[in-house]
Amino acid sequence: MDKELIERAKNAIEKAYSPYSNYSVGAAVRTENGEIFDGCNIENSSYSLTVCAERVALFKAISEGNDKIEEISIVIDDDKLPSPCGACRQVISELAPNAKISLATKDGLYKEYKIEELLPNAFTLNHGDKKDE
Ligand code: THU
Repeated sequence: MDKELIERAKNAIEKAYSPYSNYSVGAAVRTENGEIFDGCNIENSSYSLTVCAERVALFKAISEGNDKIEEISIVIDDDKLPSPCGACRQVISELAPNAKISLATKDGLYKEYKIEELLPNAFTLNHGDKKDE
């Protein structure tokens, strides 16, 4: 368990902009060189524009040039563990396929997954390849 990563995700909960759901989420990703990027969920009055915490953290890392993500932590202040939504699972499977995914609550519940467990048989770039004529 990477305590620093979880701590960063936990602190990011406080930054969440979640006035519609009142469900605040913090996330943090660790890159291969040990750098950490955190993120929170950011909602919008046009609901579908909401972006989840883990995508914010992941996009921050990627946009700063880090394409090797070793771990993604997602933390909530609740009595049960968070669960990344389908859209985030799809994004993780493409941008951080080898990352450990650690889910935690502020009070110390903890569980680790691989993306294959959360999104079996993911849609990938290969599915879109044109067949040879
Ligand atoms: N949310 C996340 O940020 N991450 C998750 O893993 C699950 C859902 C957000 C989206 C929305 O702002 C709120 O939680 C309720 O769905």
